[in-house]
Amino acid sequence: MSSLQGFGLGLRAEHYADFAGARRPRVDWLEIVSENYMVPGGRPLDWLERIRRDFPVVMHGVSMSIGSTDPLDLDYLRGLKALADRVQPAWVSDHLCWTGVDHRNLHDLLPMPYTEAALRHLVDRVGRVQDLLGRRLLLENVSSYVAFAGDEMSEWDFVAELARRADCELLLDVNNVYVSSVNHGFDPRRYIDAIPAARVRQIHLAGHEEHGDHLIDTHDHPVRDEVWSLYAYTTRRLGAVPAMIERDDRIPPLDDLLAELDVARRVQAEALAAARPGVPA
Ligand SMILES: [Fe+2]
Repeated sequence: MSSLQGFGLGLRAEHYADFAGARRPRVDWLEIVSENYMVPGGRPLDWLERIRRDFPVVMHGVSMSIGSTDPLDLDYLRGLKALADRVQPAWVSDHLCWTGVDHRNLHDLLPMPYTEAALRHLVDRVGRVQDLLGRRLLLENVSSYVAFAGDEMSEWDFVAELARRADCELLLDVNNVYVSSVNHGFDPRRYIDAIPAARVRQIHLAGHEEHGDHLIDTHDHPVRDEVWSLYAYTTRRLGAVPAMIERDDRIPPLDDLLAELDVARRVQAEALAAARPGVPA
């Protein structure tokens, strides 16, 4: 098991030069979007090889479509394994979702129906992916705006049960929990309480957009106060889990993200101190 700890950022092309330069920005690790480096040759891979010498890396994919009823894409999975062999990431993650059906990619991370049949379908597929990759997979909870009428259980019970039965790990996106809690009207702390703590290897923090009665997970804003509060709650329950900020649009200068990461450090430190009564903050 990897011992990666601390705070990371998503590696974006806008910041390649910052991370490859002599300055050594203060992050403990970087998360790469796997698909950006799965084309042989090319400049992104050159940058990554340089940056990888100085920073531990974790891999995060968007195309596995683990929940789809289409057959697993073995070419994609072999490419993912080849990249993992090359990059030696601390872990590999993707989303608990489906992105298409009938071989058509809808380019969206769509939620699963929370049913026993879907659980069985996923347990089988996660097992096969883990065998092929030769490592455990982390699955990330996605945000959602609609639910299936046929749901048989809550999302949090579904996620917890999947992790146990498939023996996989979890990437807990605290912003996604918050966004879904507003959109579907549940208490986000119930979700956090239900997640098996020992299986959470990584946390995502991100910004969202408010649209009246619903929120959209846009990754183009700083992390909002409600999400910092939920992150503090999560940390009190789960302890010091490696955490990072995701920003995918309107990407600011690296220093802005490093300052936001300092907020995450502070929130975590305060939450850990609060979880240990008698230890001064
Ligand atoms: Fe995320």
